[in-house]
Amino acid sequence: MSEPYSPKILGFLCNWCCYTAADSAGVGRYQYPPNIRVIRIMCTGRLDPSFPLEGLATGADAIFVGGCHPGECHYLDGNYHALVSAALVHEVMDRLGLDRRRFLIDWASAAEGPNFVKIITNFTQQAAELGPLGQAEGLEPEALRAKLAAAAEAARGRKIRTGLLNASKEMLKNRDFKRETIAGLVAAKCEKSLNELTAA
Ligand code: FES
Repeated sequence: MSEPYSPKILGFLCNWCCYTAADSAGVGRYQYPPNIRVIRIMCTGRLDPSFPLEGLATGADAIFVGGCHPGECHYLDGNYHALVSAALVHEVMDRLGLDRRRFLIDWASAAEGPNFVKIITNFTQQAAELGPLGQAEGLEPEALRAKLAAAAEAARGRKIRTGLLNASKEMLKNRDFKRETIAGLVAAKCEKSLNELTAA
């Protein structure tokens, strides 16, 4: 029987919660798969949507973003803004035919080392089942990575940034932070740019 695939996972962890949770899991000798390479950010609100797209374009099979629980962000609304960025990443993935389970944003407080371990263990197992980027989707990896790189570039551009800003403003005005509501806002505000991107 062949060995299970060992996925390359890139993680963006908030300094105040998941990064500390990962640290405490290590100190507490909790075991979890070693596949994740971590980039520490001060808040998930710092996550630019181009980061996960760039990560996938340059070799990662899956991306994890870990932040403070909703309502507990040290910068108030940072994790809600991260949900806006995440919605764009998922929308791009859908349009490129990539399995959206390759990108996860989830929460674990600093005191939740075991919860962090559970999230990462499950996510790693799922990424292993999906295999190398594009394999489960039947997509040619080189062409896919080129499209992801183009999407990352577009995500840094003015048009998409304006769309995301408008989506964030509406989200904060309505105080509706459900993921499906945010996904709808992002799809609507960025539709034209996304159509241009995926038609290219
Ligand atoms: Fe942790 Fe904002 S400080 S998500």
